[in-house]
Amino acid sequence: MTPITRAHLERLDGDDVLAGARAEFVLPEGVVYLGGNSLGALPRHAAGRVRATVEVEWGQGLVGSWNRAGWFDKPTVVGDRLARLVGADAGEVLATDSTSINLFKTLAAALALRPGRTAIVAETSSFPTDLYMLEGLADLLGGYERRLVDSESDLREALDDNVAVVLVNHVDYRLGRLQDMAGLTEAAHRHGVLTVWDLCHSAGALPVRLNECGADFAVGCTYKYLNGGPGSPAFLYAAKRHQEQARQPLSGWFGHAEPFTFVTGYAPSEGIRRFGTGTPPILSYVPLEASLDIWEKVDLGAIRAKSLELTDLFMELVAERCGEFGVEVASPRDPDSRGSQVSVRHKESYAIMRALIDREVIGDFRAPDMMRFGFTPLYTRYTDVWDAVETLHDVLATESWRDPRFAIRATVT
Ligand SMILES: Cc1ncc(COP(=O)(O)O)c(C=O)c1O
Repeated sequence: MTPITRAHLERLDGDDVLAGARAEFVLPEGVVYLGGNSLGALPRHAAGRVRATVEVEWGQGLVGSWNRAGWFDKPTVVGDRLARLVGADAGEVLATDSTSINLFKTLAAALALRPGRTAIVAETSSFPTDLYMLEGLADLLGGYERRLVDSESDLREALDDNVAVVLVNHVDYRLGRLQDMAGLTEAAHRHGVLTVWDLCHSAGALPVRLNECGADFAVGCTYKYLNGGPGSPAFLYAAKRHQEQARQPLSGWFGHAEPFTFVTGYAPSEGIRRFGTGTPPILSYVPLEASLDIWEKVDLGAIRAKSLELTDLFMELVAERCGEFGVEVASPRDPDSRGSQVSVRHKESYAIMRALIDREVIGDFRAPDMMRFGFTPLYTRYTDVWDAVETLHDVLATESWRDPRFAIRATVT
């Protein structure tokens, strides 16, 4: 096999059908940004759009902008734009709240659709907030058994006719392992179990096919691969077939059928709007809308193809260049089981990642021993992969990570 060279990767960047998308983002010169699985980059038009929203819609339009600037409809309008990216139809996605809150709402709605069943299945490898929200809800409702399992085969085995809901992370945050949405949904439905999917690490990273797979509910954030900005609104999905029956307990006025009649009793809105709760954070939708303008020009098949090429390349180069220093690629090699991040294990991962960040190669660290590198095909270049691995090699070979300042723990890792 001919060895990979930087010149070869420069040619791949030159031929990349997604190369134009990179120009739509603000990326600091000299930085290799592999943190898009944590916080996506800033869309170039976002700042101007926020400024216009503040100065024109708020400053001039004042309260009238709830009607005239379409503020009231943002959660459904933005939800419809997100729907294409997760394989849903218009009217099935609401852009609202945080992922944690949306987990609470969808889990509660799903449990209520399966009265008499008393078990909930989830994975121990779930992002912790998923398990915390599940715990809080189960404690509040009382009488539910939480079955936490360690692997996909355990997940399948834990399903039976007493299980109401299974909560699955489509791509897990530590290893970037991709679950079989179609197969698991079918296995769940065989027992009458409803599925809630957490799409935080798959929305915008690969084509998600909620309706094709028969999924019931889903949640996800928009600040990672979708580039909506820090704290941008999350989303939730409820399949059309469940919407009329579904009830969620955070029954605020934005989920009411007629919020401006100010009646004392709650009546859920028709459709996906019933999953709304309180006043939407209008300014936080605006960078996400700027990002969705970019997403609308992009083919998700091209995203997936490039994502797999970038992650393959990174895994191959890390094994080749850095294997001798005790680093180990922990993410799945099988493309069908891989999201768009590569996790690398080393007992000194924290200090190594700090040293990399000091050299402007940005990834992150997850306890106890994992470095994570996110590959965002919209703006990651093939040469970024090369430069990241060369810097990693240098940090390991020179042991520059031993500098005591790299051992100091930051609040956010
Ligand atoms: C899988 C997953 N779920 C949920 C969250 C966070 O949820 P929230 O948007 O409520 O902070 C994250 C954050 O990284 C995540 O990776």
